[in-house]
Amino acid sequence: MQEASVRVAAQRTKRKMATAHGAAAVIADPAGVRRRLLAWYARAKRDLPWRGAGDPYPVWVSEIMLQQTQVERVKEFFVRFMARFPNVEALAAAREQAVLKHWEGLGYYRRARQLHAAAKQIVTDHEGEFPRSVAGLMGLPGIGRYTAGAIASIAMDLPAPIVEANSRRVLARLAGHDEPVGGAGDEPIWQIAAALVPSKKAGAFNQALMDLGAMVCTPDRPLCQRCPVASCCVAKQTGRVDRIPVMAAPRATKQIREVAVVVRHGDRVLVERRGPGEWWEGLWDFLREPAKKARDKAIGHVTYTVTHHRIECTVVERTSRTPPWAATQQRWVKVASLAALAMTAPGRRIARLLAVR
Ligand code: ADE
Repeated sequence: MQEASVRVAAQRTKRKMATAHGAAAVIADPAGVRRRLLAWYARAKRDLPWRGAGDPYPVWVSEIMLQQTQVERVKEFFVRFMARFPNVEALAAAREQAVLKHWEGLGYYRRARQLHAAAKQIVTDHEGEFPRSVAGLMGLPGIGRYTAGAIASIAMDLPAPIVEANSRRVLARLAGHDEPVGGAGDEPIWQIAAALVPSKKAGAFNQALMDLGAMVCTPDRPLCQRCPVASCCVAKQTGRVDRIPVMAAPRATKQIREVAVVVRHGDRVLVERRGPGEWWEGLWDFLREPAKKARDKAIGHVTYTVTHHRIECTVVERTSRTPPWAATQQRWVKVASLAALAMTAPGRRIARLLAVR
């Protein structure tokens, strides 16, 4: 969903005025904000399957899943993942393909590979225990400042700040911070978060910020009349809730056309594993060819989006009369067995096309 945003250009004049008046991003009554937010969280928090244990493993798994995926969607994946890999030892001992298979559908598979690598590191270098500091956690693959802060505060009750999309919006509005946010623009928000995080109950406080952002302080039409901290909110008091946070302009999407080739030999089809540096590294897909080369019969189309690219893919079929031969990262697979492979999103959709033919 698009943030309630006003493009940077339209904000320039206003911003200049705000900075000229020295609108420092501070929150006037931090103790009041903490108290109200914690009380609100105690009665209104969302019931989520990873909450409550004080164990870093489920907190970590859920936070990695939540990085690019909506809460509702994460719920079912999280429960399945935890049933198959119930602790860090089980995850470390698993084969990468099994981890990727349980990630299938969540996208951004780099997260799964890094999760797996970090689990191995925790077992081999840390005797199965998570490091108990933000800096130590950030030494693990795939754990950045946000995830380290989330694990440290939620599972270890350390007073670590967090900033992600929901908390960023809440904090920017509370402080009336009207500079563009995102990337380097998040630094002032981290400072606000660090000044506000309580020394005790930091985990509850951080989750309160995120839940408030998700349920009350929403991008569009926030429910200020239900907000426990509306009386401390600079954006509300200055009538700028719909103009804060100021989002940087989104990156343009690039259109690409491609051709996927289903090579058949009898009841088998040829699949290929995506290599290092490719989208969906480690996952299986059908072969690709430049759009203009293909002269085979089209059997369907799939359209998909991946990191700022919109891809229109024509699927063609070609029969291979030569005996089955496959390069190292290729395999001949029965159509019925494609379901068991960890496949890319377009690969899975092409596999479905084949299954109904
Ligand atoms: N979004 C990401 N992590 C979250 C959490 N722990 N609680 C609520 N929303 C979140």
